Formats: sequence, structure tokens, C-alpha cells
Amino acid sequence: MNAARARIVALKTGVWLACLVPLAWSIWRFARGEASVDPVEEWLHRSGKTAVIILVISLAVTPVRRLTGWNGAQKFRRLLGLFAFFYAVLHVAVYLYFEQGLAWSFILEDVTERPFIVSGTVAFLLLVPLALSSTRGSIRRLGRSWARLHKLVYLAMAAVLLHYVWGQKADIRDPLIVAGIVVLLLGVRLYYWGRKRAARAAAAEG
Ligand code: HEM
Repeated sequence: MNAARARIVALKTGVWLACLVPLAWSIWRFARGEASVDPVEEWLHRSGKTAVIILVISLAVTPVRRLTGWNGAQKFRRLLGLFAFFYAVLHVAVYLYFEQGLAWSFILEDVTERPFIVSGTVAFLLLVPLALSSTRGSIRRLGRSWARLHKLVYLAMAAVLLHYVWGQKADIRDPLIVAGIVVLLLGVRLYYWGRKRAARAAAAEG
């Protein structure tokens, strides 16, 4: 294995371990009886926040690659996206099983009537095709359409942010910070997209 490959493997191992920390921490606290008085609430909040944080980090991969010129960054995008989805699944599972006790009539009412839950559901439904199309086979098969499909992540992020803001009782500082970071990342992408278009137009003109 050459040095560059060894560095990527070491970094990927680090990403795996870092992404598993919130889950390990929750299990550890629960096993030691240190979870809060309402462990369901604690799990719901930790899984939701972790999903958002990893999702934002996955969105930062392309801007980081563009700003630093480090193409290796791209190798972490899929892994981060899948971990964000993993925590989103955990979050939804805790809601369905522990918070609602699989009472489907209540759940149906919740996911269609409470704007906060509706936006969470929309976000989750948008993340599903992204996760399902993240296998190496799908990426190869879909080619350019894959990149187009994965732009949906910004729509999913917008729905997540609405869900996050509406879910707060009073203090909306955290979701606003996340929204600011997302706008910044989107700005970097738009800047490079504009530059590429201008370069193409200049080349076409001769
Ligand atoms: C079917 C979809 C979803 C449902 C039913 C759902 C449900 C919930 C519930 C019940 C809460 C707790 C609110 C409270 O106690 O005040 C919550 C909070 C949250 N959810 Fe979701 N959620 C969904 C999807 C998502 C997705 C896809 C994400 C992120 C990718 C997400 C991120 C969050 C965040 C960040 C919080 C706030 C955590 C905090 O304030 O500590 N949710 N969600």
C-alpha cells in the first residue's frame, strides 16, 4: 500500500470512529444508568443533532476540496452522507418505537398535521433516495444523473433546518448557526460554479 492510500485508510478509520462516538456515548450512559430522566428525549435529541452535524460536514466536503485543492477529501463524502442517514434512521426509529409506541394512527396524524414533524418527514423522505443511490454500483450506473440527483441534499437540508427551528421551544440560535454554515457552503459552491461557467463561456468565445 502506498503512502497516500495508507493516509486515506487511516483517515477513513478516524471518520468511522468519530461518527460512532455519539452512539457509543449514548449506549455507555444508558448502560451505566447515567441517561437523563427521559432517555427517549435524550436519544431523540442526540440522534437528530448528530444527523444534522454529519450532514453539514458531508456538505462541506466539496467546498473544502475546491478551496484547498485536496481531491482526497471527496473520498469521505459518501461515508459521511451514509452516517448522517444512519443517525436519521435511528432518530426516526426512536420516535416511532419509543415516543409513539408504533401507534400508527397517532403517527399518521403527527406526520401530516404538525408542521415540525411534516418538515422532518419530508427531510427524511428526501434523504432515502440519496442513501439508496450511494452504492458504488448506483454511482457508476447513474453517471451524471447521480450528481444531479444528489443536489436534492440541499432541499433535504432546508427541510431539516425548518424541522430544527420549529422543534425548538424558544432558543433558535443553534439552528440559525447551522443555517448560516449551510448558506456559506452553498455560497462557496455557487462561486466556483460561476467561475467555471465564465471560464467555459470565455473558452467558447475563442
Ligand atoms: C420522520 C421524520 C422525523 C421525525 C418524526 C422527527 C421527530 C423529531 C422529534 C419528535 C424531535 C424532538 C422535539 C422535541 O422534543 O422538542 C426531533 C428533534 C430534532 N430532529 Fe427530528 N424527526 C424527523 C426527521 C429528522 C431528520 C431527517 C433530521 C436530520 C437529518 C432531524 C433532526 C432533528 C434535530 C436536529 C432535532 C432537534 C434536536 C435538539 O434540539 O436537540 N429530524 N425530531
